[in-house]
Amino acid sequence: MKLALFASGNGSNFEAIQEAIVEGRLSAKIVLLVSDNPEAYAIKRAEKYGIPVFSFQPKTYENKAAFEKEIVAALKNAGVEFIVLAGYMRLIGPTLLHAYENRIVNIHPSLLPAFPGKDAIGQAWKAKVKVTGVTVHFVDEGMDTGPIIAQEAVTVKETDSLSSLTKAIQAVEHRLYPDTLAAIIAKYKQKGVRT
Ligand code: GRF
Repeated sequence: MKLALFASGNGSNFEAIQEAIVEGRLSAKIVLLVSDNPEAYAIKRAEKYGIPVFSFQPKTYENKAAFEKEIVAALKNAGVEFIVLAGYMRLIGPTLLHAYENRIVNIHPSLLPAFPGKDAIGQAWKAKVKVTGVTVHFVDEGMDTGPIIAQEAVTVKETDSLSSLTKAIQAVEHRLYPDTLAAIIAKYKQKGVRT
């Protein structure tokens, strides 16, 4: 299965997925990293692995449809079959959604539908919840609203700080995302969809 990863910043999930591929835990290939931030550290990570990058500056385009049209062209050109959002800080518009219907997933650091949107870990921390977690879901036009594929709970310990909770959630993300992608790809294979 040929994947495109989308990231706006650090890219630790992107790297965790690439590591799973390198280690043979995930039978896929990342053929393109897409970033809306030419300064993103994720781009440095892609370079380390020799993964091609398509980066762009949204403000230089007239609107979302204009840059998404270019993204779709880059995806098709690279033969991308499935899109994995990993810290891509933008809503996906109709141009991309229609080109990759039911083939876009996202990871979010909360148990959705709780705490959608930005700073989900900070939101959960402020709400003083005892349990939060990680969700992998299909992407629709909403903000963190598509059908849920996988979730894992993370208990907030008495001794936790915001920073230790963040680390615990990231550790779960880095395991859950590659595992969930492996399960999705296995399902496609079962159905006889070419991967
Ligand atoms: C992750 O917490 C992910 O759940 C959220 O954005 C963050 C991206 O982190 N969507 P990284 O860039 O993968 O390190």
